[in-house]
Amino acid sequence: MFNAEKIRQDFPILQRQVNGKPLVYLDNAATSQTPQQVIDVIVDYYSNYNANIHRGVHTLSQEATDKYEAGRHTIQKHFNAKHAHEIIMTAGTTHGINLVANGFSSLLKKEDEIIVSALEHHSNIVPWQMLCEKTGATLKVIPMNMAGELIMDDYDTLLSKNTKLVFVNHISNALGTINPIEEIITKAHQVGAAVLVDGAQACPHIKADMQALDVDFYVASAHKMCGPTGVGFLYGKEDWLNKLPPYQGGGEMIAEVTFEKTTYADLPHKFEAGTPNICGGIAFGAAIDYMNNIGFDAIAKYEHELLEYATAELLKIEGLKIYGTAKNKTSVISFNLEGIHPYDIGTLLDKMGIAVRTGHHCAQPIMNFYNIPGTVRASFAFYNTKAEVDALVTGVKKAQMMLA
Ligand code: ALA
Repeated sequence: MFNAEKIRQDFPILQRQVNGKPLVYLDNAATSQTPQQVIDVIVDYYSNYNANIHRGVHTLSQEATDKYEAGRHTIQKHFNAKHAHEIIMTAGTTHGINLVANGFSSLLKKEDEIIVSALEHHSNIVPWQMLCEKTGATLKVIPMNMAGELIMDDYDTLLSKNTKLVFVNHISNALGTINPIEEIITKAHQVGAAVLVDGAQACPHIKADMQALDVDFYVASAHKMCGPTGVGFLYGKEDWLNKLPPYQGGGEMIAEVTFEKTTYADLPHKFEAGTPNICGGIAFGAAIDYMNNIGFDAIAKYEHELLEYATAELLKIEGLKIYGTAKNKTSVISFNLEGIHPYDIGTLLDKMGIAVRTGHHCAQPIMNFYNIPGTVRASFAFYNTKAEVDALVTGVKKAQMMLA
């Protein structure tokens, strides 16, 4: 039996009050909360073995290096990458995407084509537009339907021998749609294109398997899955990572430096210039362990129950419309109330202690598709409860009355 009440005890922040009311935190798609087990790891690092890694012979440096590399191995194991050196530590999802986009600027030609989807976050649109500007390549878009699902027949027609890259998110941050990435990857490979999947929204809900997916690149952030901000990873198949040039130059990414010529370090260090977020990498590993102890199957089942309950209860409110009704979706509900700006609802909910995100969610093309300025987005995690869904529904009704 999944015990959300017991799990909540792990999260100190969930005990606090906001505006005099118990916090109801429903902005998990923006960032998840951090359990005490991960906070303890962060405190332990700065209290006991804060040191730079891969550089010192002294004990603290060795300890920090061992724990940081253990973090990388935990990521490798969790996402089932073949090799630890296929896991590049990054500052987060956006960093990973930009690293790959930058790398492809020397590999693409004018006649090449890049495919993204209509459901992308700006971080999976803008770097590719910048890449197209640099290389002359063309950006094409897989369209979506009113339910917020990708139109896969159109994907088939977009693919050609000119397609070099396909970029798609695993789960849409704005609507919660789970995209058919298996099919997207298989079809891209049939025309010889590489695929990057943005897993930022999937990592708290789904245990993605790099080898089973046969994906070329996969990116995600620790802070979406109970870890700290400022750290994430890029998975890349070894062959691809060897083909891409380094992203940033600096210490740690070199084999040898002279003023005449520099040679680069082997993977993964070739892409890891400078002092990384050492504590973050260690805490990322602890966050993955924490979530695995709860279990991803149990999390998915429980979150699905929350999603179904919240959807049914919200739809009882007159004038409420949900955007994103895909058959396959995760625990994200984007909605609007007729005649009311989403920002106003979000502001009033905050006064009641309820945290949601309002606006375009860094996905303006989706908002343009629905011809709306934005939505109110409630995104649920495994530590949310049906009582919190009830608080949201009551809060939305109150806000509607006040704003009518
Ligand atoms: N991408 C994050 C969100 O959807 C920040 O809120």
